[in-house]
Amino acid sequence: MRAEPIVVAGTDTGVGKTVFAAALTLALDGYYWKPVQAGVDSDGATDTLRARMLTGLPADRFLKEAYAFKAPLSPHRAAALDGAAIEPRRLRPPEVQGPLVVELAGGLLVPLSDDLLQADIVARWAAPVVLCARTSLGTINHTLLSVEALVKRGIPLLGIAFIGEPQPETEAAIARFSGARRLGILPWLAKPGARELRDAFAAGFRRADFIGRPPA
Ligand SMILES: Nc1ncnc2c1ncn2[C@@H]1O[C@H](COP(=O)(O)OP(=O)(O)OP(=O)(O)O)[C@@H](O)[C@H]1O
Ligand SMILES: [Mg+2]
Repeated sequence: MRAEPIVVAGTDTGVGKTVFAAALTLALDGYYWKPVQAGVDSDGATDTLRARMLTGLPADRFLKEAYAFKAPLSPHRAAALDGAAIEPRRLRPPEVQGPLVVELAGGLLVPLSDDLLQADIVARWAAPVVLCARTSLGTINHTLLSVEALVKRGIPLLGIAFIGEPQPETEAAIARFSGARRLGILPWLAKPGARELRDAFAAGFRRADFIGRPPA
């Protein structure tokens, strides 16, 4: 049965989207896709490879990126340096026989080209978004701004997945001001591996919250 994709967005680059997306892919026994990879290490490491290593799921659960650029820069710039240009039609989520977890590049308003922001592509998909947010200082501003960017474009928000040390007051303030649902928290793991991610997701989230549409 084909399921709707779930988009894993972040308030910024480096907030833990790949680690969360790996945990979600495991929890849903699904597929993973990173449409735009900006930054391929000299040893070939990409988020797709990292997610595959983190989950231990078979290679066929990891779809090939639509674009993978060498430079660890904003996608519009990384593309230009590789002599490429991102075409929106190549960014449509592929159909797979199960839940598809789609990890965005960096934050929501990163440019994909000179006239296209990543959030504008996400709006075309009409798929629900999980917003990954740090719990550390600065997160209230980043997260509320990100929610505004989603609301402005009519993008359905499933809720917020916090990552890091629990900060209940910060998390509650974000939920209160944004009106978004707090889906749960993935703690900072000393050694993230498949077992640790499965256990942390089960302890910090409800799988049912990631199946089906967000409440209207
Ligand atoms: N829950 C966690 N426990 C332990 N380490 C984590 C956790 N989340 C993220 N990290 C580590 O923090 C770093 C950044 O995380 P990650 O690569 O998941 O961020 P990202 O949001 O996917 O970044 P990008 O914008 O490059 O895709 C990585 O080294 C990752 O291993
Ligand atoms: Mg990532």
